[in-house]
Parts: sequence; structure tokens; C-alpha cells
Amino acid sequence: MFDTLRSVLRFRRFELDPVERRLLRCASVEDLRAAAKRRLPQGVFDYIDGGAESEHTLARNTAAFDRLEFSPRVLQGLESIDPSTTLLGKPLPMPLALAPTGFTRMADPLAGELAVARAASAAGVPYSLSTLSTRSIEEVAEVASGPKWFQVYAWRDRGMVKEMVQRAAAAGYEALLLTVDTAVLGRRERDVRTGFTLPPKLGPETLLDGVLHPGWTFDLLRSEPIVFANVAGRAVGDGSDPVSLADYINTQFDSSLGWGDVAWLQSVWNGPIVLKGIQCVDDAVRAADAGIPAVALSNHGGRQLDHAPPPLELVEAVVDAVGDRLEVICDGGVRRGSDVAKALALGARAGWIGRAYLYAVAVGGERGVARLLADFDESLRRTLTLLGCSRVSDLTRDHVRWREVALEA
Ligand code: GLV
Repeated sequence: MFDTLRSVLRFRRFELDPVERRLLRCASVEDLRAAAKRRLPQGVFDYIDGGAESEHTLARNTAAFDRLEFSPRVLQGLESIDPSTTLLGKPLPMPLALAPTGFTRMADPLAGELAVARAASAAGVPYSLSTLSTRSIEEVAEVASGPKWFQVYAWRDRGMVKEMVQRAAAAGYEALLLTVDTAVLGRRERDVRTGFTLPPKLGPETLLDGVLHPGWTFDLLRSEPIVFANVAGRAVGDGSDPVSLADYINTQFDSSLGWGDVAWLQSVWNGPIVLKGIQCVDDAVRAADAGIPAVALSNHGGRQLDHAPPPLELVEAVVDAVGDRLEVICDGGVRRGSDVAKALALGARAGWIGRAYLYAVAVGGERGVARLLADFDESLRRTLTLLGCSRVSDLTRDHVRWREVALEA
């Protein structure tokens, strides 16, 4: 009996490193999300995880991927699998890039954007730094040797936008992303309920939240204050005094942003500009007419206009309308390499991830993001193999089909 027992009992070696231990238990983005929920104070987690109003669009972004099924081709005699591609004329190891997300030190108070940028560089995938980052344009450039993009909002102070764009060019950022879906901030009801501010206030209720999440709180207390690093010390406010994001954006950003501003940006930036937040065919066509090389179909991760369409559902119509005049990026609901394959089968050039890497950096810092990117690569290769495709350019609409689902009651 003891021999039998000994032959079936296997103990996993106890992992002494707490970061590794946390990551070992995460097999998917959903697992990372659950682990991030345990590690982060509730207000911080909800800021990252939440969406606008009833979060209908937030849920539909991921549900759209569930609604698209694969149609595999077997017995294809594949000899090698190559997930590489090009985007904005540059080679990429896989059709994936990291979308800009503000205030990354909320998720990882120590390194924040530096951790994400380092992991992206090591994997060779583009990292997009947000204007509202908590590490500066120059700090990120110093640690990230891989492809870097810089995201801009239309601040009322256009002189400041011009100055930031010039800083990004001097620091070697290759592309500029103009966010076009944030004329005013969407109403994020979770943040209204938690009274969330940037940086988070340590008031009586939040203090308890901090005590209940000691790992995060310890990191916060031993790191320098979190500020909006690109505007540190500027009159626009750099977050030294906690502000609600809605107040900040609604006073600092220009809600009258128009196509003339796109032309202005083209006059001050000598490189590719991506419009982030295109949500209908006509605007994508207008972008192509304006000489824009790529658009990110995006509803800001369901954080802006609730009931806006899921990006995946726009891909086909946009690609059909613009042809090869511009590249189409699918941003929203991407959680696995197989999701990237779905977007590509419909005609997108690449997928973007935002929340997925924020959960990963919250759970495991740079190692968390490195693990996530390795999982994306592996998932994409596996999906290509099982679909009978050697390269991403072999993916076609014949490899997917929309599943009919009954409308929700
Ligand atoms: C900022 O862009 C946010 O969505 O919170």
C-alpha cells in the first residue's frame, strides 16, 4: 500500500519567491485579474477593472470574442509556425502591442510603467506610454530599448502638447497615438461609489483598505509619491494633490477636439500617427483620407461611452471600407493569443491589450508582464497550429464564423 501511495503522490516544490508563487497559480488573464483583486485595495482595483455606467460595453468587448468561433483546417502538413508580422512598417515578433494606460504605478507602486516597458522591450512588442503616466517620457525611454509609442490627449494648452511631442521625438518614440474618444470623461460609477482619486487618498476608509492589502500598501509607502510624471510641477496640476480623474480631464482637456487638430498634430510630429478610439466606419475612412496610417478601433476598454460597439464587431466593416489604405488595430476585450488570431482573421493587423497587463504588473511586476507576453506568444502559436495556418497572413475570414446568440432579455 505504501509503495502504491508513494508512486502516486507528487508534491509540487514549495516556491519560496512570493512573486513566482503568485504567478504560478495564474494560468490565464482571468486568474491574473482574480489575483490582482486580492492584492490591490478595492478602489484601485475598481479603477482599473471598471467601465462606464452599467458596464454594458465593457462586458460586450470580451463577449464579442466568445461569439466568434473558429473553423479549423486540419491535415495541413505544417512544418513551422511563425507569428511575426509588421505594423506601421516595422517588423514585430507577434501582432500585439501594449495600449497606453494611465497611472500604472497604481497597479505597481514601485516601478509602474518602467516594469511594463522593460517586459515589452524584452519581448520586442511596442509599449505605448500614456500622457497621464506616472513615469516620465524620458525615464521610460531610458529603460526600454524596444519599440515605444507615445499617447497624447488634446490638452487645452496646445503648447504643452507640442512640447511633449517634441520630448517624445527626442527620446526615440516611434509613433504617436492620439486618443479621440475622451472629449469628456465617461462616468465610471465604481469610482463615483468609492470616491476614487488620483493618487488614492489615504483617508479613514481607504486606510482600512490599505491595511487589508499590506503588500501593495508596503510598496506604496516605500516608493516616492505618485505624480503625473510628464507634467510634474506644471500649473495644470501633477497629482500632488489628489484629484478625481473626471475633474482633472474635464478641466484640462479640450472637448472641442476636431479633424483640424489631427492636421495640427501631423504638422508638429514627423512620424506615424494612430487615431485611438475610432468607433465607426465613416471616421476610419476619414482618417485614411487624412493620411493617417493606422486606427485603433477602441471604446477605451468600455470606460467612455457605454453602449458603444465592441471593436471586434467593427473590424470587418472598417477593413472592407478602408482596404489597405490604413492598418486596423483591435483594442478591447483581447485576453488571449487566440483572441488576437480572431481579430486578424477578420482583417485586423494587430490586437492591443490594456487591462490584461495591468493585472499582470499588479500581481508580478515586470515578471508578471513578461509571463503574460510569453503566454500570448504561446497561445497564438498554438492557435495557428490548430487552425492549420503557418503564418498570421494565412488567417482569413474562412477561419472564423459568428455564432448566433439569443438577444439578452
Ligand atoms: C484613462 O485614460 C482612463 O481610462 O482611466
